[in-house]
Amino acid sequence: MFPTIRPRRIRQVENFRKMVRENHLQVNDLVYPLFVAEGTNIKKPVSSMPGVYQLCLDNLLREVEEAAKLQIPAILLFGIPKEKDTIGSQAYAENGIVQQAVRAIKKEFPKISVITDVCLCEFTSHGHCGLINDNGQVLNDATLQLLAKTALSHVEAGADMVAPSDMMDGRVGEIREALDDNGFIDIPIMAYSAKYASAFYGPFREAAQSAPQFGDRRSYQMDCGNSNEAIRETYLDIQEGADIVMVKPALSYLDIIRRVKDEFGYPVAAYNVSGEYSMVKAASAQGWIDEEKIVNEMLVSMKRAGADIILTYFAKDVAKRLQK
Ligand code: PBG
Repeated sequence: MFPTIRPRRIRQVENFRKMVRENHLQVNDLVYPLFVAEGTNIKKPVSSMPGVYQLCLDNLLREVEEAAKLQIPAILLFGIPKEKDTIGSQAYAENGIVQQAVRAIKKEFPKISVITDVCLCEFTSHGHCGLINDNGQVLNDATLQLLAKTALSHVEAGADMVAPSDMMDGRVGEIREALDDNGFIDIPIMAYSAKYASAFYGPFREAAQSAPQFGDRRSYQMDCGNSNEAIRETYLDIQEGADIVMVKPALSYLDIIRRVKDEFGYPVAAYNVSGEYSMVKAASAQGWIDEEKIVNEMLVSMKRAGADIILTYFAKDVAKRLQK
């Protein structure tokens, strides 16, 4: 007891603080999300996400090059097609924008890993993550085949990993089967397992032009009041073959990250989503917070909660800081 025991002793010197630090952020933890738009000469700022752009293929390659130079291990790719329709055809078109981008990246920068987001919402005219019927209901089973087709087309183009973000029941199993049947037994799936219906995705929907044109996503994404359900969802994805499980959003769901990690001991990814990014950017633009310190504290909290991987729009900033 005090005065024999003094926790402050070990906090007096930076070297000792470093030596006893329990959690570290590393460049190896980071995945950098990018938005590729169909067309030429595009570098369109996302107004609610300063520093984030919709990029045409050429500009995307430049951004990937920078990420690769910073030793960021992987990017997560979202596509914005020119044409949308009710069945999201461009999501699984052989020459869709994501498929083109994957081929180009793998050709020019074979070392950086390419993870593709698998979902229909950026490609459907109605903005939902699955097919809809005449009553506007999002159809689960009819959507599964299209998701599997989308994932397979990404992998055929050269994607190193696929990340289904749609929250249809059974999609991980359907995708696993499609990949296996086509010989892609070693391509892992990072499942958005505990994905909540969240207002924190607001800015993303501007970035990906994927806002639902009617209704909302509460019939497929989870309710923020639920915690046990996140365990059930994650359990199902693991049973269906998920290799990495994701909790999304991250900041308001650190408890879920911890539970998922403790329950399964699987690699856990945390998605530091668009709204979390925008809030920090907005406050720091006002001079109200110290952006660099806030970002570090936020991302370390995700590590402390149990995340192994962090998907973040801050990836380049963090990588630069860590390299200093
Ligand atoms: C697509 C998808 C979304 C995000 C990732 N994949 C949006 C949504 O579900 O509406 C959100 C990412 C972010 O907010 O940064 N289904």
